[in-house]
Order: sequence, then structure tokens, then C-alpha cells
Amino acid sequence: MTKSFKISKEVSESQKVKAPIVEALRTAYKNPTYQFHIPGHTKGVAIYKEFKKLIGEKALRVDTTDEFDNLGTLHPATGPIAEAQDLAAQAFGAKKTFFLLNGSTAGNLAIGMSLTKKGQKVIINRNCHRSALTGLMISGADPVWICPSRIDDWSIWGSIEATKIEQALKENENVGLVWITNPTYEGVVSDIKSISEVCKKYNVPLVVDEAHGCLWNFNKHLPQTALELGADAVVHSLHKTGGSMSQSSMLHISKNSMINPDSVEKALKLLHTTSPSLILLGSLDAARAVLQSKSGQTLLDRAVNNAKYLRKRLDNIPNLHQLKSTFGYMTDVTKVFIKIDGLSGKRLESILEIDFGIEVESASDIGVLILCNLGNKHSDFVYLADALEKIASAKHKDIYYLENRKHMPMLEPVIKMSLRDAYYSNKEVVKKELAVGRISAEVIAECPPGISILLPGELITEKHLPYLNDYETLEVVC
Ligand SMILES: Cc1ncc(COP(=O)(O)O)c(C=O)c1O
Repeated sequence: MTKSFKISKEVSESQKVKAPIVEALRTAYKNPTYQFHIPGHTKGVAIYKEFKKLIGEKALRVDTTDEFDNLGTLHPATGPIAEAQDLAAQAFGAKKTFFLLNGSTAGNLAIGMSLTKKGQKVIINRNCHRSALTGLMISGADPVWICPSRIDDWSIWGSIEATKIEQALKENENVGLVWITNPTYEGVVSDIKSISEVCKKYNVPLVVDEAHGCLWNFNKHLPQTALELGADAVVHSLHKTGGSMSQSSMLHISKNSMINPDSVEKALKLLHTTSPSLILLGSLDAARAVLQSKSGQTLLDRAVNNAKYLRKRLDNIPNLHQLKSTFGYMTDVTKVFIKIDGLSGKRLESILEIDFGIEVESASDIGVLILCNLGNKHSDFVYLADALEKIASAKHKDIYYLENRKHMPMLEPVIKMSLRDAYYSNKEVVKKELAVGRISAEVIAECPPGISILLPGELITEKHLPYLNDYETLEVVC
């Protein structure tokens, strides 16, 4: 697939990349006033000294909220915040971009709240993030669950097939939204172009939770973005891989979207804090500016090259396997999911951490996920590959973990009650073993990846039990 929209071409080398929130914060910092407004630590004067030492005085001086110091407001977006959102929309190829606090979770809540309603059906993948479930619990819409393909050797969900979406659209009336996750946490990519064509055929809007794909628009070796491929709205966790600070994300409305941005904005206004952190908003502005800049392009090229280097080294390690696109799935090269014979992912994670001081993104019972990030140097990958070589040659046997730990059941859910009704029903707490045959009243989802093992309204079966090792009791519908 070739990319039609490349930001590196849009911004000429000579053009200076702007960051209006960062500029406004700098101006405010340089022109301090007598402050009689929130936050009451007053530029770090009234704060725990050790905390100030740790994070630095400057960070506290710019910890302000909107309304003050000509920084603009988030809802409605005004001043530098509005300008920064417009610049982000241009950079990501959207008609409208909203900055999100409380992560992509806030974006998914707003989508559920504004684009779906009680009694309506929503076609959604079973491995969606739990925040999408919360969005549907708010609205009361009824999910039509689509199970993606399963990659059993790796115990992970694979891609979502367009044919399954079409089948669900044929079989169900009153579908208000198709809402899917792409890529998966481990980097498996679905054919969004075909899915979007199907949605257009049935005149149903498509929202893509692209939380883990926010870099794609900025490098030709990465998959195409859902905004390019016809989605109506897209959520991006900039804080995950895009270089902004934790909790900061974006929600984009595409150029030819069927979705009215005003309704999404209204929901965001209700869901967001009324005291947005300018540091977090500034970090979104800064991350977008970096991605658009020449140095950002260099960082991204480096990340892709580092990923290729790592993958090549891993290919030559006996007993080590990596998930890759040659297995018949499209994947994001920067997300490297590996497993070593005889070792569970959890054990591999702890060996890496304890013996080598390496922390990976996550571990499952099968393998570990390594992110090749913008900030990693080549030498990091040399060290990691050397460490993995040593671990793989040690021929570990990790029977306890391999036999006892399980995380992702990948079952077709048996739904007995609507999400919302089950969540708001009269509940009781019962011992896990006595919960078989009862209806779950809660979301049980380990984070990461935040995919639910049990949904409210789902029948609890014997098959769930091995995946609930950490739970002694469950909340069920009375
Ligand atoms: C697919 C997906 N969507 C949404 C989220 C929520 O993102 P955030 O942590 O930015 O709230 C996550 C988090 O892991 C995720 O994996």
C-alpha cells in the first residue's frame, strides 16, 4: 500500500514548526504576575520540597490551568489551545482534532456518549479496550460483538475481517456505529480500507481506536492511518508512542466524516476536567511539533531502523520467535512481540528486569512486547538483543508459569443481558467458583492491554476460571 498523505512533504524544510501552547506557556513563565487563582501551590511555593526538587521548579511555575495568562481555554477551544488543535488536525490529516486529557479513555467515552444511544446497535470487536465498554455503558447502546481471527500460537487476537463486519451489518438493523480497534496492542493490523468501504456501503460511520498507531502518518514504513483509509473518527494515544506526556491523547474527526464534530465536543466538555493541565496540553502541542519537524522525522526513521535491526538479530537467535508480517498478518514493525521456548512471558519479563535492568512494555503468559520508541538509541537495541541471546541460550524451564498463568481467554461471549442493564443491576459478590452459570455485573480487564476477560451481561462459564487466577470473588447480577 502506498501512502497518499505524507506530512514530511506538506511541511517544507525551511518552514518553522510552530507550537502555540508551548510559546504561550513560555511567555507566561517569563512574565509572572501576583497570582490569586488556582492552583493553590502558587507556582510551587506551597509544595513538598522534595517533590519540587524531583520535578524541577520550572515545571511547577508552568503548572497552570486555562483561563489565565492568555493561554486560552479547552472548552470551547480558544487562543493558543485552539490554534494548537488546528495545527494537529493539519498534521494528522483531520478536519478537526480535539486534545484529550485522561488519555484515549476520554475519547472513547465521548464517542460512546455522543455517537451511540440506547436501543441502537454498535458493531464492535470483542478485544476492544475497556474504555469503549464504558462508553457503551454510558449510552446504553447494544454491542454486536465481532471476534477477530485468533493467533493461537501466541494467544492473541489477530485482525478483524471486513467480511465479518459486512455480515453483522446485514444481520442487524438499527446499527448506529462500527467501532473497531486497530492495531492490536501487539501490532497486528486490520484491513481498514475494506472495512471502511463496507461501512460506506451501509452508510454507517466508522470509528477506529488507533490508540497504538499515532505515528503512522509520519513515516512511510508504517501502516496507513485510518484517517487516510476512510474512518470517520480516530483516537490516538499520543502519550503511548507519540512523545507527549502520560494521559494526553487526541481525537480526530476525518475530512469527509459523517460525524458531527459538535456533538463529540459537547460530550468531551461534560467528560473533561474543568481544570485542564496546560503542561499536558503543551506536551501534545510539543509532540505534534516534533513529529512534523525534520528532527522528528529523523527520530522516527531511527525508530524504524532500530526495529529492523532488532528483528534481524532476533531472527538469528535459536529458541526465540517473533511475531511478524510474514506469518500472514500485516504488522507495525516497531512493536516486537517475542517468545522464548521453555519460558513464559512473565518469567522472561522478570529475567530481563532483574538480571539486565531492561523493562519491556508488557508480558503475557506467552511472550513479551517490546516497543521501538522514538527516544531509544541504537545502543539500547544492541544491549537488548545481546541480553535476549544470553537468555535464550540458557535453556530455562519455567513450568509453574507455563502451566498456571493464563490471561486472555479469547472466547465468544455468551451475552445474557445488555452491558448497561447488567452494570446497573442489583449485584452480589460471590466466590469465583460459585459464579459459574451466573451473569457478570462487572468489567474484568487486566491492564495492559485493558481487554476484558468478562463483560457485564456475559454468562460466566468454567472456561473463564483459569483466566481469573487473581480474583477470589466476582460481582454477579442478582
Ligand atoms: C486500544 C486502546 N484504546 C484505548 C486505550 C486507552 O488509552 P489511554 O491509556 O490513553 O486512556 C488503550 C490503552 O491501553 C488501548 O490499548
